[in-house]
Amino acid sequence: MSLKVSRRFFARLLGGSAAALSLSGLGALSGSVAEASALATPAHHPAKTDRSFPPGFLWGSATAAYQVEGAAHADGRGPSIWDTFSHTPGKVNNGDTGDVADDFYHLYAADIAMMKDLGLKTFRFSVSWTRIFPTGTGAANPKGFDFYNRMIDKLLHAGIQPYCTLYHWDLPQPLQEKGGWENRDTAKAFADYAGYTAGKLADRVHHFITTNEIRTFVEAGNQAGTHAPGLQLDQKRIAQLTHHAVLGHGLAVQAIRAHTPAHTQVGIAENPFAAVPVVESRPHIAAARKAMREENAQYLTVIEEGRYTDLYLKRLGKDAPKFTAEDLKIISSPMDFVGLNVYTPVYVRADDSEKGYALVPNPASYPTMASPWLYIGPDALYWAPRLTTELWKVKEIYITENGASSSDTVAPDGHIYDTDRLMYLRNYMKQLQRAVAEGIPVKGYFLWSLLDNFEWADGYSKRFGITYVDFKTQKRTPKLSAAFYKQVIEENRVV
Ligand code: NOJ
Repeated sequence: MSLKVSRRFFARLLGGSAAALSLSGLGALSGSVAEASALATPAHHPAKTDRSFPPGFLWGSATAAYQVEGAAHADGRGPSIWDTFSHTPGKVNNGDTGDVADDFYHLYAADIAMMKDLGLKTFRFSVSWTRIFPTGTGAANPKGFDFYNRMIDKLLHAGIQPYCTLYHWDLPQPLQEKGGWENRDTAKAFADYAGYTAGKLADRVHHFITTNEIRTFVEAGNQAGTHAPGLQLDQKRIAQLTHHAVLGHGLAVQAIRAHTPAHTQVGIAENPFAAVPVVESRPHIAAARKAMREENAQYLTVIEEGRYTDLYLKRLGKDAPKFTAEDLKIISSPMDFVGLNVYTPVYVRADDSEKGYALVPNPASYPTMASPWLYIGPDALYWAPRLTTELWKVKEIYITENGASSSDTVAPDGHIYDTDRLMYLRNYMKQLQRAVAEGIPVKGYFLWSLLDNFEWADGYSKRFGITYVDFKTQKRTPKLSAAFYKQVIEENRVV
């Protein structure tokens, strides 16, 4: 298995061998163009500080249990809704399942060595609920912790800080049979599991993330039916289910705090509707701020403000969720940080409507990455943290996910030249740097993902890794983007 990122490969691609990369075509430029570009960039070496991040900025990568672990039946793990869904014919592309995935459950040590080689400062993983409580509630499975304990110890030994997500969509199947997130008891069961698990890990893990992308598991899983559990609920039922999900988050914040030392940091990873002003002018920026609040009303907004917006409740009318004042207090339990998963911008313009903004549709020619939903828009990584800070004055932000799918292939020389992913990452990171340089409190960035993995309903057909995985042999090969990321981390700046 070639787990080492080849240094010569980096050197060649990142300027170590300047000769090889020297712009041999430049001599052919007309005098005036060459002179002009020489004037614009006199030394051809922009100041090191240009794109740099503050010392201690946490560069990481992220994965999730069902997407990488495999070992679906090992050591007493019970079934989750994703086991059921992926084993239901027609639900996942090519009939793929997470039964084996990246076999991270067994290969974690080599993968952590690879993380160390990349220079990662931190690693975000999720715990599989049904490894700890095979049926979701009841007696814990002591063996369930063994893998996480070994993995966390390895991370710490490699100098990599663990960030632990407690729910990345793999609801225990028996809880789905009792109504899943439609059942208010699920929120309570989640908090019990989250508190118990955090309590067991908190001697070594200091950052916990309650839920990952409530928006996605609500809307794709329960409304569109394209993700597990594959339901298509109506508006009223979705509103109530969403309420239970944010309540589950709030109860989990409280349970984690109750079971862990005072220094433990608790937050969430949400994929906000990432409003980007279509033009950076005052009215459009104000419109984007309104859209960020309104379009996230039932997710981040209620979590941050402890109230549903008037427009959200008005829009739903008789379908609005039932809730109490106490619920809202729980949902808005104070967090230490907010995690933002940012992939795609939604352009917004000022408008005279009641909302004060309008969404700007993209034309068919708008560029995407390999996933058709993944519109490329680097500015999202500036505006999402900026608007989050302006709206809610959050203490700390992490970019808990950002990355891209690419139609990677192995070139005849054995390398994977994912130039499109590299272009994507570099441009998004420049916008993140802009945010940080303006004082927006982003403390770290988790690239999705370390490895190609089980991309939910797309199965293994969409690759998000900076490391190529041959799913037949489990061989890992770092891609060009891994070389790029290693250099970013080493220099603490966008290269
Ligand atoms: C967000 C999800 O959290 C993650 O599981 C998924 O693989 C990536 N987006 C890419 O779609």
